[in-house]
Amino acid sequence: MPDINEAANSGSPKPEGRNTCEMKITVIGAGYVGLVAACCLAGSGHQVTCVERDDAKLKLLKRGQSPILEKGIDRLLGQGLSAGTLGFSSSLPSHLDADVAMIAVGTPCLLTGSADLSFIYRVVHDVKAAARSPLVLVMKSTVPPGTGARLIERYLKDTPIAYVSNPEFLREGLAIEDWYHPSRIVIGAQTERAAALTSELYAGIDAPVLVTDITSAETIKYAANAFLATKISFINEIANLCEAVGATVDDVASGMGLDPRIGPDFLRAGLGYGGSCFPKDTRALDFAALNHGYDFRLLKSTIEVNTRQRVLAVHKLRQLMGSLEGKEIALLGLAFKPGTDDTREAPSLDIAHLLHEAGARLRVYDPAAMEKCRFLLPTGVTFAGDVYSAAAGANAVVLITEWPQFIAADWATIKETMKEPYVVFDGRNALSQEKMNAVGFRYGGIGRTSGTPTSG
Ligand code: UDX
Repeated sequence: MPDINEAANSGSPKPEGRNTCEMKITVIGAGYVGLVAACCLAGSGHQVTCVERDDAKLKLLKRGQSPILEKGIDRLLGQGLSAGTLGFSSSLPSHLDADVAMIAVGTPCLLTGSADLSFIYRVVHDVKAAARSPLVLVMKSTVPPGTGARLIERYLKDTPIAYVSNPEFLREGLAIEDWYHPSRIVIGAQTERAAALTSELYAGIDAPVLVTDITSAETIKYAANAFLATKISFINEIANLCEAVGATVDDVASGMGLDPRIGPDFLRAGLGYGGSCFPKDTRALDFAALNHGYDFRLLKSTIEVNTRQRVLAVHKLRQLMGSLEGKEIALLGLAFKPGTDDTREAPSLDIAHLLHEAGARLRVYDPAAMEKCRFLLPTGVTFAGDVYSAAAGANAVVLITEWPQFIAADWATIKETMKEPYVVFDGRNALSQEKMNAVGFRYGGIGRTSGTPTSG
C-alpha cells in the first residue's frame, strides 16, 4: 500500500499497489466509519457504493463534499467520484449485486447504557431481502458480543449470506492513515471462505490478520476500547494521587511508559476521554457484562473516574479563584480532542454546564467545533472569534482541548488583557507550568505540583 499521503494526495485515482482482487462492495451508512471505509476501499481500487439515508448528507457527498472533518477524506472522495469507483445512493437496490455488504450504521447508547441495535436489525433484514446471490455481510459497526450469532440465528440461517465481524480501530482525525496502516485486521468469520474474502478487502495493506470466531472478534473491539479507557482513567487516578503526595504526573507517566510492558501511549492525564467510542462502548460493555450475569467492577470504576475528572475541574477552579459566581471564564476548546470538530461526549459540554450552574459567565472558542456546539452549550455563552478575544477581560482561562494553536499562543499578551486573579486551568497538562508561572498566571493543572528540583 502506498504512503497514506500519497494515496490521499496523488492525482492518480487508483493508488499504486492497489488490490489485485477488486470487489463490488456496498457500504451501508456514511457516518465517520462508513464514509472512511467507502473512500478507502474505493481508493484501493474496489467498486464501492455507499448507501446513506440522510438527504442533506447525500447531496453533499454526491457533490464531492465531505460532511465530516477528516484529514485526506476530501481528496479520496473526489478521486473516487471522478474515477467512478465510488458512488452514493439513498437506499439499497431491490436486487443487491455485490460481493460484500458492509454495515457501518450507528449503535447509539440507550438510557440503560446498552447499544441500540435497531438500525442494525433493519439493515440486516434489508440486505437479506435484497441479496440475490451469495455475499459476505461484514459488520463494521460496533455491536456487543453475541450480536453476530443472534443475527445469524434470526435472519441469515439457510441464506447464501455469510456473516463476518470485522471491527474497526480508526481514530478520528487519523482515520485514513489508520485504515491504510492498521495495527491489525481482525476477522471473526462464520466460514473460512468468508474470512478469506474479507481479508481480500485489505489486500496490499501490511498488517497482521487475526482470524477468530465471531463473538471473539466482537469482544476484541470492546476489550481494546475498554482497556485504553482504563489506561486513561488509571493515569487520572495517579494524577490525583500525585497531588495528594506532592509528585508530578508528567514524570510519573514518563517513568511508567518507559517500561515496554506498559508503553507510553494513553498515559496523558487530564479531563478524561470523550468522543463517539470510548464513553459509549465502555457503557455498552458494562451493560453487556451485566446482562450476562457478570459485574465488571473495574470497568465501572473507569467510567466513574472519567465522569469525576470533569467535576473535579470545577472544584479545582474554585480552589484557584474562590466563588465562581459572576466570574468571566474563557473555555478554550470544545471538540473532544484536537484535529476534529466532533463534540460528542466532549468534556467541554459538561464543564460548561457545571460552570454555568455555578454562576460563571462563559465565553468559548474552538478552531473547528463552534458550529457543532451552538445549541449544546448553556444559554448566554459568548462565542469568541479567536483565543485572544475569548480571554480578553476574563478572570480565568480553562484549556479543555489541547489544540496546537492554544499552546503556541502568546500567553504574555493574553495575560495583559485578562482580569484578576489571572487563572489558567490547564485541563490537558499541555502548557508549561514554569512558563505560565513566569508570565504571572495562577496556574493549575492535573496532578502537577511545582516540585521541580532546583539546580545545585
Ligand atoms: C478511539 C480509539 O483510539 C479508536 O481505536 C476507536 O476505533 C475509536 O475510539 P478516538 O475516539 O478518535 O479513537 O480518539 P482517541 O484519540 O483514541 O482519544 C479518545 C479520548 O481519550 C480523547 O478524548 C482524548 O483526549 C482522550 N485521551 C487520549 C486522554 O485523555 N489521554 C490520553 O492519554 C489519550
